[in-house]
Amino acid sequence: MVTALYPGSFDPVTMGHVDITTRAAALFDKVIVAVYATPSKSLLFDADERVQLYKDAVPNVPNVEVIKFEGLVVRLAQDLNVEVIVRGLRSGSDFEYEFDMAFMNRRLAPGIDMAFFMTSQEHMFISSSLLKEVARLGGDVTGMVPPHVAEAVYNKFG
Ligand code: COA
Repeated sequence: MVTALYPGSFDPVTMGHVDITTRAAALFDKVIVAVYATPSKSLLFDADERVQLYKDAVPNVPNVEVIKFEGLVVRLAQDLNVEVIVRGLRSGSDFEYEFDMAFMNRRLAPGIDMAFFMTSQEHMFISSSLLKEVARLGGDVTGMVPPHVAEAVYNKFG
């Protein structure tokens, strides 16, 4: 049985993240989505809200579990006995960022490998920061996030 860990800030989960989760869940026996509680970016949603929004975004994928975590992602992977970390890639700049993290993670925990999923074309331009800015300014984020996430984002901005 191969379980994969899919870590991220997910502030909030987007259709891009849902796409990666669904594809990873088709390939691995189980996917644990790990919501990083304390990223250095400024957050719109607290960790519990991000976990709940994620759970509600993948209600029909039975082999996906959503948890929150603090500390090193490789330590979490070791604690959970997971040997694969999944990440999504959209562009060359994502690659450079992921490249650095992958090598650091490999150095910290050589037994844990990475699996990268190329994003689907329709999600290439989506990022949590950009969609929050669009929503804050009253723009339409339909289709970039699941409907319940769009509602939660608009509620935050009143
Ligand atoms: N489609 C659309 N958008 C995507 C996407 C996809 N397939 N994949 C990522 N994104 C976007 C996100 O919306 C997000 O946008 P934003 O930066 O505007 O908010 C951005 O790409 C990356 O977000 P996310 O996927 O949530 O990852 P992250 O970079 O916030 O997460 C962690 C990084 C949590 C994995 C990393 O910081 C970590 O491992 N932290 C734990 C501590 C640790 O171990 N540190 C050492 C690491 S070497």
